[in-house]
Amino acid sequence: MQPMQLERILHAQGFGSRKECRSLIRAGHVSVAGTPCEDPYADFDPGSLDGSPGLAFSVGDEVWRFRARAYVMLHKPSGYECSQKPTFHPSVFTLLPPQLLARGVQCIGRLDQDTTGLLLLSDDGQFIHQWSSGKKRTPKLYEVTLKHPVDETFAAKLVAGVELHDEPAPIAATACELTSPTTLLMTLCEGKYHQVKRMVGAAGNRVEALHRSRVGGLTLDPALAPGQWRWLESADLQQLADYA
Ligand code: URA
Repeated sequence: MQPMQLERILHAQGFGSRKECRSLIRAGHVSVAGTPCEDPYADFDPGSLDGSPGLAFSVGDEVWRFRARAYVMLHKPSGYECSQKPTFHPSVFTLLPPQLLARGVQCIGRLDQDTTGLLLLSDDGQFIHQWSSGKKRTPKLYEVTLKHPVDETFAAKLVAGVELHDEPAPIAATACELTSPTTLLMTLCEGKYHQVKRMVGAAGNRVEALHRSRVGGLTLDPALAPGQWRWLESADLQQLADYA
C-alpha cells in the first residue's frame, strides 16, 4: 500500500479527528511495530501493519491491526434495536467500540429487537449493498421457537409457501426442519420485514423466540457471548460467500 502519515493511519482507523490523532501521537501514546513514534507526519506502509507478530500499531495499551475496511460479526442480544436512532431499546451500536462507530459501520440487514444471533456490520458501502440486497438471495438460517407444538405438516406448509399481507405471491421457506414439536430450523433467502414471524403467523402459529445462526456460509462464532463482537477475517468472508 501507499505510505501514509501516522496521523492519517490513526484517523482512518477511527481514533478521532486528524487533530485528535495528532495530539495522541505527540503525547507519546502511539507505537508502530513496537517502537514509540511521536511524529504525526512519519510515513508508514499501513499494509505492513497487518497484525502479524510485531507488525501492528498500538494506542495506549491496545494493539491494533490496520484494516482498510471494517467487517465484523456481532452476537446480537435480545432487547437491542438495529437502528442508529432507536425508539424503545438501546441500539446495537452501543455494543461496539468508539473506533468502529467513528468509521461509520452500518448493519447489514436488520434483526428485530427481540431476535438474537448473527448480525454483520461494515463500513464498506459496496459490501453492505451487496449483502443486504434481496436480489442476492443469500440464505439465512433461523432457529425458531414456536408457541404451539406442531408436526411435519407445519414445516411442509412453510416450504410450500404462505400468503403474506402486502405480498402479491406466496412466500416460501427455502428449507424447514422440525427439531422438536416446538422448534424449527428455517432457511429464508429474502429479507422481508418480520418475515419469520409473519410466515409462522400466516401458518397458524406464533414465534416465541428467534435466533439467527447463519448468513450465507458463515455461522455465528460460538465463542461470542451475546453482546460480543469480533472482526471478520478473510477466511470468514470466504465462508460468507461459500454457500452454493
Ligand atoms: N424475521 C423476523 O420475523 N424477525 C427477524 O428479526 C428476522 C427475520
